[in-house]
Amino acid sequence: MLSIAILAAGKGTRMASSMPKVLHKLSGKTLLQRVIDSCNELKPDKLFIIVGHKAKEVEDSIIKKKDIQFIVQNPQKGTGHAIQVLSHQVKKHEGKLMVLNGDVPLIKAETLKKLINYHESKTADASLITTKKKNPYGYGRVITKNNLIERIVEEKDCNQKERLNSLTNAGIYCFSWKSLSTIINTLKSNNKQKEIYLTDTITLLKKSYSFEVEDNGELQGINDRVQLSECEETIQTLIKEKHMIGGVTFINPASCTISEESIIGSDVIIEANTHIRGNSKISNNCKIGPNSFIKDSFVNDNCEIINSTIYNSKIMAHVKIGPYSHIRPNCELSSHSKIGNFVEIKNSQLDEEVKVNHLSYIGDSKVGKYTNIGAGTITANFDGVKKYPTNIGENSSIGANTVFVAPITLGDSVTTAAGSVITKNSKNNSLAIARSKQINIENWKKTNS
Ligand code: UD1
Ligand code: MG
Repeated sequence: MLSIAILAAGKGTRMASSMPKVLHKLSGKTLLQRVIDSCNELKPDKLFIIVGHKAKEVEDSIIKKKDIQFIVQNPQKGTGHAIQVLSHQVKKHEGKLMVLNGDVPLIKAETLKKLINYHESKTADASLITTKKKNPYGYGRVITKNNLIERIVEEKDCNQKERLNSLTNAGIYCFSWKSLSTIINTLKSNNKQKEIYLTDTITLLKKSYSFEVEDNGELQGINDRVQLSECEETIQTLIKEKHMIGGVTFINPASCTISEESIIGSDVIIEANTHIRGNSKISNNCKIGPNSFIKDSFVNDNCEIINSTIYNSKIMAHVKIGPYSHIRPNCELSSHSKIGNFVEIKNSQLDEEVKVNHLSYIGDSKVGKYTNIGAGTITANFDGVKKYPTNIGENSSIGANTVFVAPITLGDSVTTAAGSVITKNSKNNSLAIARSKQINIENWKKTNS
């Protein structure tokens, strides 16, 4: 029987944040969610999360809460106290209890499995993941004797010699719950921080083993924002290397960020300062960037996107976007369409080979294939209360500076004259002009007043 407890009740003072530490995000996912996801891969019989500081916010942040039991620790008197609270609320202390700090977000399920196997092979009272750090500052130092752990000393309680010890506690433990329950209530808080330390259980238990793992970044604990950014870099390096091996060129990888969920095809070139977020998919042979942001969108083969932002939209093959375009949610741009300079499109479907080349706003619209939208065209879709649609047919030629006062429907092969304010529907093959006639006053001279 495997129970897992994740410690997430602390405030995280060193983050200097109004948000609980475990809710800070790495590549779009909270620290806590990352730890939960790794734990769920072990399919534990029970999963406890110890909450306390801003407990509701922490609970609400979790994606699937169904199989999780929340244990409230209030006030928070330390990591050992958190497990005392858990111990009081759970009647049967049987099997293994794995305890993880909620601020060790990069821990992999396979490492947790190895810890369990090690723990079982030793029939240990406690086994914990340790690692040698070049700079052990801030971590509990693990003092061993013949592979058994004698004690763990926190940074603030270390003497000179202990401070030089580079073997650190990663904050991930596997206990025999029965053994732990016999000593958990005897923990004291006689240390510099006046906290009840979970690490003191190690001295009280007879057989506590160190399971030493090489430090490859996985065991980084996050106590401040410097460590948060170090972890972000670790994740991003792994993601980008994976894509490079899969056939993606990054011109300046350090300036780009890619979400873990995003899929990128082969022979894609990602230029500097480009960010692909959420559930995005970029197909083969695309050129994205520089300076582009794509979130929750699909981009089909052979597209070129430069200096542009795309949210929650579908971009079909051979589409060119930018520079300086903003594709807002719920757009579908069909193949070979071209969205040019300073263009905003929202909730619209553009058919094949539509061109919106300059300085336009197209919202709540449908545009038929081969239509050209002239520079400065605006769909006036909002009357101050409601939004209305604009439908433009195929093969049409929309003159520069046309304003469509929606709702409007135009047939196919319609031409609008430049500068027209279109308020009436037009049939197929018509020319719509809606502007005052030009008057030329000849031989006109300025008068001096
Ligand atoms: C802890 C360990 C340290 C280890 C390090 C690894 C202790 C005493 N020290 O130190 O040996 O090297 O982690 O990263 O355990 N929490 C609660 N309730 C509390 C206090 C904390 O749930 O009353 C939670 C926090 O939300 C956090 C976790 O426990 O997720 C660890 O607490 P933190 O204050 O970060 O401990 P460290 O100082 O990092
Ligand atoms: Mg910590």
